[in-house]
Amino acid sequence: MKVTAVLLAAGQGTRMKSDLPKVLHPLCGKPMIWHVLEALKSVTTEKPVVVVGYGAEQVKKDLGVSADSVLQESQLGTAHATMQAESLLRDKTDYVIVTYADMPLLRGETFRRLLETQRQNPGPLSLLTVIADDPRGFGRIVRNADGTVEAIVEEYVATPAQREIKELNVGAYCFQADWLWDALHRVEKNPQKGEYYLTDIVEIAVKDDLAVQAVVHADFIETIGINTRIHLSEAEAALRTRINREHMLNGVSMMDPLSTYIEVGVMIGKDTTILPNTYIHGNTRIGERNIIGPNTIIRNTTIGSDCKILASVLEGAVLEDDVDMGPFARLRKGAHLKSHVHMGNFGEVKDSTLNEGVKMGHFSYIGNTTIGARTNIGAGTITCNFDGEKKHSTEIGEDAFIGSDTMLVAPLKLGDGARTGAGAVVTKNVPEDTLVVGMPARAIRKVERKTKKK
Ligand code: UD1
Ligand code: CA
Repeated sequence: MKVTAVLLAAGQGTRMKSDLPKVLHPLCGKPMIWHVLEALKSVTTEKPVVVVGYGAEQVKKDLGVSADSVLQESQLGTAHATMQAESLLRDKTDYVIVTYADMPLLRGETFRRLLETQRQNPGPLSLLTVIADDPRGFGRIVRNADGTVEAIVEEYVATPAQREIKELNVGAYCFQADWLWDALHRVEKNPQKGEYYLTDIVEIAVKDDLAVQAVVHADFIETIGINTRIHLSEAEAALRTRINREHMLNGVSMMDPLSTYIEVGVMIGKDTTILPNTYIHGNTRIGERNIIGPNTIIRNTTIGSDCKILASVLEGAVLEDDVDMGPFARLRKGAHLKSHVHMGNFGEVKDSTLNEGVKMGHFSYIGNTTIGARTNIGAGTITCNFDGEKKHSTEIGEDAFIGSDTMLVAPLKLGDGARTGAGAVVTKNVPEDTLVVGMPARAIRKVERKTKKK
């Protein structure tokens, strides 16, 4: 049995008032259409067909190789859009699932139920409905006296009595493929809007005395569709709740899930606590027993276990275990903090490795630098890594002690056990176990290392 999904995504989404095609608007970190494709993966492994139109190139670029696409040149309605997939799919598949790319909260298991229902159905189509008090402009499901589905009536043509109907068309259908294509050609142009509505295909089946099945879905939230930016924010909130609940069920604590913003795909280990107003984005993996937040932003970062990160911003960084950061620390791309690093307030690290046990308490900038284990970076230390044209690197050895307000003018090497006096401007390499002071700093004597490698 072969099942193929067709995803309608050609509309501009006029009601979004946006230049960006509607289906590319992000939801918890991924474009709306990504969520639908992800859910469809659990019902079929066949490559889905996406019907593109408005912003076709942009949408296709975003899809990459994850889906085939067909172009609907002018947006003549949902039946017309579905018809565009015929050339690719006629005689190639047994069932076709058609859904709209603006219904991003539908779950894989819901599509599976729809398919199962259609597999039992002697008739050619099954559709998903929901019972709701707020109709949200959805099509109404008209049933006849014995309860069978007779038609879908769009809101603007519905009679006052039909408008009262609480059963709504969600916008997910499963068709017998060999019936679908010919039936689509029989859909007539809607006289008011001049469009061909997929919803009219129900009446075509009914006219031919063929059974139409409905899967009545209980979860109203899952059927939030996005036509306006208000819906987008509602869907975002609903999806965020879903993501947060999953993390909590997996052993993550959240003091206030409503102010915890975790994008889809983020991984968090058990017994980690996320405090309020924390944003965790992109490709981020977090280990166990960390305390993160409040007021923290983390993006594309890997964090080990037992770290404390307070009111900080981390992007493109790696933290190993027992790292203690913040408040007000900033890690930029390529920052690598090994175990037991302490980074206090107002520090910035970029493209640098801080080895085990480095301490950098206050007001420092470290860029393009490697710092050896256990070295202490005094308050206000700056690696002057940019000469206006090029970046230069700095190497600081182990057990070094950099005095407050030291300027390390790169390229530069400081040996193991080196020390600098407060306010030193270091322009020349410093040999190991040597103290330099002054501006520019010059060597004055040999010194004893305070800490030694264990
Ligand atoms: C549609 C349904 C309605 C249902 C609602 C639920 C029809 C006629 N109506 O209304 O019964 O309750 O969804 O979500 O189907 N599209 C194209 N090409 C077109 C027109 C639309 O690809 O020519 C795509 C859009 O990009 C969108 C989807 O089809 O992703 C649905 O279109 P939209 O205009 O949002 O339909 P609704 O008014 O929401
Ligand atoms: Ca819609």
